[in-house]
Amino acid sequence: MSESPTQFDSAIVGGGVIGCAIAWRLAQAGMKVVVIERGDVGREASHAAGGMLVPLAEADDADDLFHLCVASRAMYADFASELKSASGIDVEYRTEGTLYLSLTEHDDEELERRWQWQHAAGLNVKRLNADCARKLEPQINDKLRWALKFPDDHQVNNRLMIDALHAAAQNAGVEFQTQAEVERLLIESRAGRKQVVGLSTSRGEIRSKTVIVAAGCWSSLLKSESETLLPALKVEPVHGQMVAVAMIAPPVSHIIYSCRAYVVPRLGGVLIAGSTSDKFGFEKRVTADGIASIIERAKEILPGFGNLTITETWSGLRPRAGDGLPVIGADASVAGLVYATGHYRNGILLTPVTAKAVSEIILKSESTVSLSAFSPTRFSPQ
Ligand code: FAD
Ligand code: GLY
Repeated sequence: MSESPTQFDSAIVGGGVIGCAIAWRLAQAGMKVVVIERGDVGREASHAAGGMLVPLAEADDADDLFHLCVASRAMYADFASELKSASGIDVEYRTEGTLYLSLTEHDDEELERRWQWQHAAGLNVKRLNADCARKLEPQINDKLRWALKFPDDHQVNNRLMIDALHAAAQNAGVEFQTQAEVERLLIESRAGRKQVVGLSTSRGEIRSKTVIVAAGCWSSLLKSESETLLPALKVEPVHGQMVAVAMIAPPVSHIIYSCRAYVVPRLGGVLIAGSTSDKFGFEKRVTADGIASIIERAKEILPGFGNLTITETWSGLRPRAGDGLPVIGADASVAGLVYATGHYRNGILLTPVTAKAVSEIILKSESTVSLSAFSPTRFSPQ
């Protein structure tokens, strides 16, 4: 007699930070969870990121995405410490904060605008004159005019966070199927309503009561039998390159932004600089022009950057939905199908709040997180 396939409560497509964090939360609640990952866990955008948790440095106004980012940022200290207990891995959550530099007259306008809306909204933002900023980071360019400081815009080591999430999820009982590609979602009609019942993968069929799409920039390539389901999300790859160098004394300790680039210090003497933003399809090339432009812009922040030894270059694909907002919530027409994708430039930052929201949707059918702006129904045909 052939064995019937294991029945899971939740099958998650994609083992990036988003998929792993949701899996962990669901397994903690006692669900039987499988993560299907085409390659190795966390080797795509989640590996490529800078690990910055910086809503004030990245947002242009206090919109829905900004509020979601701030809510997730507020969860990070506890999230990092819970992850350490659950995995034994310290994700290097650092709280020195972020500096945002004005280096030109044009930058003055951009910083002034940022200061106005953030100060008016009562956010924790400080104005620093050039001397004060250089006391914090002596290697900053002499052209510095003034700076903003965001004391609550922190950082985490995203590569360690993948290891920690993977270990925490496994410790909670999650099954990981790696080197396994999801080919199709299995959907049946029951009592006049469509219901997801599992997945067809390159290693066979998986039966599951719910399916969560956390496939990053590949989310819109997933298909059901009808071939029509997921492309409507229009999640596309936005290519970003990065350069890491070995830092020399005095080490940089803050994330430092200009209007054109950022540098991120990691423990262990590594400084990361980024990034570019291009449409190269799904190709992940590292280009001479891309790296040269990052180095030029990093030198504007830290003139000594050009003398430092390059230790690594890489690229990754940010998952961007048609309107640039994350896609978090249940499908309007297929019961049991939930999306957690399109996190674009902020997926590391948004990991704790996404895992909370999606696990609440699966466990309680609704979330305490305000998700209306991020609902997948915004892509449904009218
Ligand atoms: P991914 O990490 O891409 O994971 C998706 C996974 O799904 C992949 O592992 C893939 O192999 C798998 N998959 C896809 N299709 C299938 C299939 N059919 N079957 C099985 N598996 C499949 N965010 C921040 O918050 N802070 C930052 O500082 C930051 N910096 C960034 C810098 C760069 C250069 C880039 C590229 C991104 C940056 N981001 C940052 C954004 C962040 O990296 C992403 O938003 C986040 O990693 C998305 O996570 P994810 O799990 O959705 O996607
Ligand atoms: N959030 C940084 C980036 O996407 O480059």
